[in-house]
Amino acid sequence: MKKIKIALTKGRLEKKAVEILRQIGADVSELEDKGRKLVFKGKNENYNLEFFLVKSPDVTTYVEYGAADIGIVGKDTMMEKGRSYYEVLDLNVGKCTFALAALPEFKVDKGFNRKLIATKYPNVAKEYFRKQGQDVEIIKIEGSVELAPILGLADAIVDIVETGTTLKENGLVIVDTICDISARMIVNRASMKTKKDEILKLINAISEVVDKK
Ligand code: PRP
Repeated sequence: MKKIKIALTKGRLEKKAVEILRQIGADVSELEDKGRKLVFKGKNENYNLEFFLVKSPDVTTYVEYGAADIGIVGKDTMMEKGRSYYEVLDLNVGKCTFALAALPEFKVDKGFNRKLIATKYPNVAKEYFRKQGQDVEIIKIEGSVELAPILGLADAIVDIVETGTTLKENGLVIVDTICDISARMIVNRASMKTKKDEILKLINAISEVVDKK
């Protein structure tokens, strides 16, 4: 049984990914009791796995370069970073929406000034406004994007909305929804050939669990 290295996204998606892996019969005991370790073994009679936890943009990087065979990552990160790996499964967890949001008085086509848009996802925002035929200026922000319109840094934001609580509690409203996103399973192109049997076994098992959701 060849070893399959799996890059998992730290944070919000972590628990959901671990739960899916547990449901297919993988040994996730080290992941459930992780301390400060960065690499977690997961070998049992079903699978020979090794897991590591990284930030979402790094998941795609590890998979692209083949340091990980498989990654579990949000579609938002994939859209922002582009892709040179296979996207094999929608895991149906971590469901959110990409949205344009602003204070209630915002009108995208009002006034002569070029609108300022704050976002953690400049490429997604750029593509959205390109399709809309609107010329805007994008400001890259690293987090708490909802602050930008409140403090007058930007006219609106492009961000992910999950429950909508952050927008609501900060007095912002959705102006337009861009697209739905969720967690995906991605596979390194070379691994798909060299570790085909092991990877297909995982894809089949995970798709069964996901279909039941
Ligand atoms: C994300 C996103 C919103 C929030 C949306 O931020 O950027 O701020 O979650 O979730 P909600 O609709 O359920 O309120 P995250 O918590 O990842 O932190 P960050 O802003 O520091 O990036």
